[in-house]
This record gives sequence, structure tokens and C-alpha cells, in this order.
Amino acid sequence: MIRVGVVGATGYAGEELVEVLLRHPEAEVTSLSALVEKEVPFSELYPRFGKKISLVCGNLDVDEVSADSDLVFLALPHTVSMKIAPRFLKNGKKVIDLSADYRLPPETYEKWYGTKHCDTGNLSDAVYGLPEINRDTIKAARLVANPGCYPTSVILALLPIAGWLAEAGVEAIVDSKSGATGAGRKAVVSLSFGEVDENLKCYKANEHQHMPEMEHVLARAAGADVRVNFTPHLVPVRRGILSSIYIRHEGLPGEDAIHKMYEDRFKDEPFVRLRPAGQMPQIHDVAGTNFCDIGIKVARGMLVIVSAIDNLLKGASGQAVQNMNIMTGLDERMGLI
Ligand SMILES: NC(=O)c1ccc[n+]([C@@H]2O[C@H](COP(=O)([O-])OP(=O)(O)OC[C@H]3O[C@@H](n4cnc5c(N)ncnc54)[C@H](OP(=O)(O)O)[C@@H]3O)[C@@H](O)[C@H]2O)c1
Repeated sequence: MIRVGVVGATGYAGEELVEVLLRHPEAEVTSLSALVEKEVPFSELYPRFGKKISLVCGNLDVDEVSADSDLVFLALPHTVSMKIAPRFLKNGKKVIDLSADYRLPPETYEKWYGTKHCDTGNLSDAVYGLPEINRDTIKAARLVANPGCYPTSVILALLPIAGWLAEAGVEAIVDSKSGATGAGRKAVVSLSFGEVDENLKCYKANEHQHMPEMEHVLARAAGADVRVNFTPHLVPVRRGILSSIYIRHEGLPGEDAIHKMYEDRFKDEPFVRLRPAGQMPQIHDVAGTNFCDIGIKVARGMLVIVSAIDNLLKGASGQAVQNMNIMTGLDERMGLI
């Protein structure tokens, strides 16, 4: 049994981690912590965990959590994780961080997150936790930077053609739509029911902090720069991300050839499902699962790629457990649906 601590357990990603880990046959949740005023039984905070888990959720004490765990998940806001991860690593614990703190080179992080990185030593050892690219390095990692939700949906959708995009110098235009849980549980007026329900709005057009993560990871996969223009939207659903990507180029391969590139790239991937040519994925098919569904279509000289994930699972906690499985030598699919 792997003893697991969840830090940031009261947030959306933390709560989802607990849900997934309770179903996991080889993991035991041994500690739950967050920024709380006083200890409280987790099932009192979240009654759906009644009779499922008897742990209390307390304020984070790194040494106490370390004593009870082999591996910790940090489901914390960015800038908080990089202050806490080094203390767990020093205590010999494996760490999977769900924030953005260990995903980018320090200068890119500073530019997009507006603050200096305070743990550059561990940052250089961190492995970007997208199994479809880094499975072998994740196996030996002590610190995994779990990918962002939008980047997971976009990087997987572009991975089979990243080399072609780089070579042809073609930009990908990305239009993503996310459910409201993507922004976390904290109270913000723009995310309240009255603002989100029956509404659809665009935000941070081509200046969202996840854009450099997409470009950085795709460039590493392609071996040369890949340019992504990314505009996110908030839609009135709880969970799910649908990313629609548009690529126009005179030298575009035909639909069959592109479909074959995707088939070849993903045929052995347990959590990526390619739709038959011309058919598009939808959030309903992936919500509550760790799958990323992808569809492609070429028409009127344009390639359209659409991907769908559950932001809280393949976009966060499901992928984090997939990484835990890889780091601990378990079947990658264990505990995941
Ligand atoms: N939501 C998603 O779909 C998603 C997807 C991918 C990645 N992520 C990333 O995952 C992380 C968590 O996201 P979330 O959506 O779960 O956010 P959230 O709902 O706002 O939860 C944040 C958690 O961190 C705790 N926390 C905040 N400051 C802390 C501190 N100084 N010490 C200890 N605990 C602290 C909070 O405790 P209190 O509630 O007690 O303040 C809460 O448990 C973020 O970095 C986010 O970007 C989220």
C-alpha cells in the first residue's frame, strides 16, 4: 500500500483526489490538510464522504504529513506549492504538484505568474507529468509537475502534428471552453452562479498563463518552436473542457493521412481515444473519466482538431493519480476510469 497525503484537500482538485484515491486498491489516504482554522472531520466538510473516510482535515504540518506518507499531492494555488514542496522533498517524500509552480523555466514563470521562482533547484529536476510524452522519466521522478487543464487538452490534441507545425511554421489557433470548476472553489464574483449560469464569456484572449506552457511543451516534443494562439471561454457547466483548434496551410496533408498520424501516435495510450475521422468529441463522453477524446476533420483547406477532457480528472486529479501509478511501478490505469 502507498501511503498518500493530500495537501489542499478542501479545494476542488483535492476533493477529487480523495474521491479517486478511495477507489484505488493500492493507495491509502493517510492525511488530509489545507489552510483551515481548526481541525474538522473531512466528512463533516463534505458529507458525501460520510462512512467512506474517517480522517480529519487539519492545518498543514509538513513533518506530521511526512511521517504518515510515502507520497504527497499538492493541490495548492501557484506560488504556495513552491514554498512547501522543498520541505517534503527534503523529508524524502515523492511529490506530485498540481499547481503551475514546476512546469516552466524560471524566466517564463516569472513573466507569466508575476513573481520570482523561489525553488529553482528542485524546478530543474521536476518532470512534466504528461505520461503520453514523459512516461519513462516520470517513472524515476521525485517531483512531478502535473500539467494544467487547458494545456492537457491542447498539447494532446497537437502532439501528433507538433513536428509538422514546427517545420511548416504554422500557427495553431486554439479556442477552449471550460466549466466553472476549472477556476477553483474560492469565492469570486465573476464565477458566481448569477454570472455564469445561462452565460458564455471569453477571458484573457491570447494572454492566458497556460499559453506558454502549451508552447514550451510542444516545442520540446517537436524539437523546434511551435506557436499557439489561445483564447479561453467560461461556459455554464460544472466540469469539462472542450478545445477547438484551427490550422490552415497550403501544404496540409489530407484527412486520412492526418487521421493515421493520430492513430499511430495514440494507439497504445490507455487514456486517449481517437474518434473516427470526421466525428467530434463532446464533454458528456469524458466527464467523470480520465479520458481525452480527440476528433479531427479537414474541410475547405482547414484542419479542425477538437479535444474533450474532464478538467478535474485528466486535467488534474486523474492525471495526478496516473502519475502516481507510474512513479510507484503500478499499472498506469489502476483506480482510474
Ligand atoms: N480546478 C481545476 O480544474 C484544476 C485543474 C488543473 C490544475 N489545477 C490546479 O490545482 C491547484 C488546486 O486547484 P483547485 O481548483 O482545487 O483550487 P481551490 O479549489 O481554490 O483549492 C485550493 C486549496 O489549497 C488550500 N490552500 C490555499 N493556500 C494554502 C496554504 N497557504 N497552505 C495550505 N493550504 C492552502 C485551500 O485551502 P482552503 O480552502 O482552506 O483555503 C484549498 O484546499 C491549483 O494550483 C490549480 O491551478 C486545478
